[in-house]
Amino acid sequence: MIDDSPVDAPVVSVITPTFNEAANIPELLDRLDAALDEMPHEIIVVDDDSPDRTWEIAEKEGEHRPSVRVLRRFAERGLSSAVVSGMEIARGQTLAVMDADLQHDESVLPEMVALVRSGRADVCVGTRSASGGSYGEWSLGRRLVSWVATLLARLLLRVPLTDPMSGYFVVSRDAFRRCAPDINPKGFKILLEFVGRHKELAVAEVGYTFRPRLHGETKLSPSVIRAYLLAIFEMRFGRLVSPQFFLYALVGASGVIVNLVGFGIGELLDFPRIDTGLGPRFDPLYISVVFGIQLSIISNYLLNNYFTFFEERYRGVRLLWGFVLFELISIFGVVIQVSVFQFLQNAGFLSLLGSTLGKYANNAIAILVALVSNYFLNTNYTWRRRATG
Ligand code: GDD
Ligand code: MN
Repeated sequence: MIDDSPVDAPVVSVITPTFNEAANIPELLDRLDAALDEMPHEIIVVDDDSPDRTWEIAEKEGEHRPSVRVLRRFAERGLSSAVVSGMEIARGQTLAVMDADLQHDESVLPEMVALVRSGRADVCVGTRSASGGSYGEWSLGRRLVSWVATLLARLLLRVPLTDPMSGYFVVSRDAFRRCAPDINPKGFKILLEFVGRHKELAVAEVGYTFRPRLHGETKLSPSVIRAYLLAIFEMRFGRLVSPQFFLYALVGASGVIVNLVGFGIGELLDFPRIDTGLGPRFDPLYISVVFGIQLSIISNYLLNNYFTFFEERYRGVRLLWGFVLFELISIFGVVIQVSVFQFLQNAGFLSLLGSTLGKYANNAIAILVALVSNYFLNTNYTWRRRATG
């Protein structure tokens, strides 16, 4: 890292990570040079040796643009780590990070830089949900993911950000100097590496509208989302609780919703009464309850398989075998819950809370015991980590 920016340092270094963005680079550089017309700047394109030769296009553009520098990385990979590599060689008084795919609106950049330069903020975040900002045309799924990610970052890390997932921000050189040693450059959460770990940083936000992507495709994948969740969990709790347990509990929470939806569907389907002579147990109402439970077991299994235990996941026909195990363990979990509940009730545990509250508290304890025991069984049997040498 260059410790002090030289006297003739540019006001801002714009670091733009790229992977297969060849079709976007010329337009990006045009727009950045135009938007920063009044401001001495440099643009650092950090490319991970893209197969579409983004680096070559950028180098060619750089021949007639004095502002452009290209860092082509051969050994390292990844968005956050590319950003850090760019920051390490940046000369600017402030450091800006912006996607290369034209989704970030460069016209608010001068305002963001000015806020940081004035000393009113150490970090200024281009935000999609602050006033003046918006997510633009986003699919429902993408919105949901972003909403959950934002909520978790705010709850767990208590960051004062409306868009903590943003990949568009400006930091002062001084803030970078302070934060750099703690940065864990994995995944897409580079902004949180600053703001999540350094609560003393003053933060400002500027709204903008996220544009749709015209060329190339997003690299945001389920594994990126998973890495993000694990990372904020680790930032908050360190090694206290296994981050995998956190994902497992998160899936369990989603299962509660599926369970209720399944119950509703069951009631709508209006299952016929089966006359087995076994009495009220086979009332259609109970069938709806069982239907909801079964639906949540299936969705929990799939989510755990492709999310929580991604590395150990079942594929092809083996999916069925995994499901059989998971189903058995789930049923066993119900037995555990009911037994623990009955045990606590019979022992008069928490009865001083009153019969109603005590009942709920005991059932909550029973659910927790079942959750932990199921987690233990699933990690040791269903998704046992296969020894890898
Ligand atoms: N060097 C490098 N290496 N660049 C990368 C890599 C990588 O492994 N992966 C992605 N990039 C670059 C892309 O080329 C693009 O310029 C930028 O990083 C953002 O990647 P996208 O794949 O377009 O991400 P997105 O638009 O889906 O995600 C945006 O929103 C997220 C939150 O919803 C980004 O702004 C993310 O930073 C943000 O977290
Ligand atoms: Mn993008």
